[in-house]
Amino acid sequence: MELEKLFLQVFKSKLEASYVAPARINLIGEHIDYNGGKVFPCAISRYIKGYVSKRKDNVIAAYSTHYPKSFKIDLDDIKYIKSNRWANYVFGVFKVLKEEKYLINHGLNIMVDSNIPLGSGLSSSAALLDLIVYIVSDQFQLDIDMKSVARLAQKVENEFCGLKCGIMDQAAIALGKKNKALLLDCDKFEYEYKDIDLGEYSFVVLKTNTPRSLVESKYNERVEECQKALDIIKKFYSIDNLSELKSSDLLTIKQILNDGILYRRVRHVVTENDRVNKFSDALKNKDVESLGKILVESHISLKNDYQVTGINLDTIVEAALGSGAIGARMTGAGFGGCAIALIKSERFDSFKKNVENIYFDKIRIHAQVFKVDIVDGPKRIL
Ligand code: GLA
Repeated sequence: MELEKLFLQVFKSKLEASYVAPARINLIGEHIDYNGGKVFPCAISRYIKGYVSKRKDNVIAAYSTHYPKSFKIDLDDIKYIKSNRWANYVFGVFKVLKEEKYLINHGLNIMVDSNIPLGSGLSSSAALLDLIVYIVSDQFQLDIDMKSVARLAQKVENEFCGLKCGIMDQAAIALGKKNKALLLDCDKFEYEYKDIDLGEYSFVVLKTNTPRSLVESKYNERVEECQKALDIIKKFYSIDNLSELKSSDLLTIKQILNDGILYRRVRHVVTENDRVNKFSDALKNKDVESLGKILVESHISLKNDYQVTGINLDTIVEAALGSGAIGARMTGAGFGGCAIALIKSERFDSFKKNVENIYFDKIRIHAQVFKVDIVDGPKRIL
């Protein structure tokens, strides 16, 4: 059914405005944002759209085309309710904005429709959060700037939804720019745009189609391990976050920590920060071979030191490298989800076929390889 008609049927109200927000991939700098270093993501051409009308009462009504049930909550009594599922993200935005003293004086009907694969590591939840903050800002003329959109969305995820994520996903989406990646310093929350112009090469997405059921608990476990390591290291080094460490500190850090697991987590953070800088230089020089090498090194570090890959991501990355990719690595939190690969664009069709076949032979799950464009952040479209 046409969306306008569906909207009318669900809410008994005419659609008044629509908005869009993209998904993201991270090129390099994985599990670095909450460790205060630099990350390098970009917004991609998978989208969530939000359709809106104003209500006269104080109710927020939310409906997704993927899940045929509308959820409702009173603006003055918003709490996390498990059975509200995805709508908690919508309601959480209202709660946080109200706590931040933004004036929201009536309810909204909100319908969302998305082609971002859910729970696949392309930040479907950050896209939803950014979209809703953007919608509320526009509908109530709150004039929230895009950096604050990201910050508020992260606050909802951290405080209302319980994932201790960093700022990367929300910022990558809110600040997305066509054909540019965002070199983002997560400690200072400062950023620069860098051109993604690799001539005959491009980044493609490899989706493992693996459910990421443990992602929240394992993710929070990594955040806590890093915090634990930082607390110990701080007794000896005057630092605020692990990304301030240099590779020349690692030998001493190993002795200080005296714990194999914590040491490997820190080693990933330190080496990954180096890779972000090298990657940025290689991108500037359009040095595709080096970019590929750095991607592979990152994946190995995430596999062995940070231990967030798993058989599905490892298999798809190997399949990509065996099918002509110059480099490949997992992207996002890991534990399933997606990887990215750098390939010669003209080889896309055979690359896709090969990777999907190899992956199916080994894992017995159908993967999907697809092209993406690098796009702008959220906007109003009607
Ligand atoms: C998830 C989180 C981000 C970031 C990545 C790993 O996507 O939401 O904040 O930590 O994992 O780099």
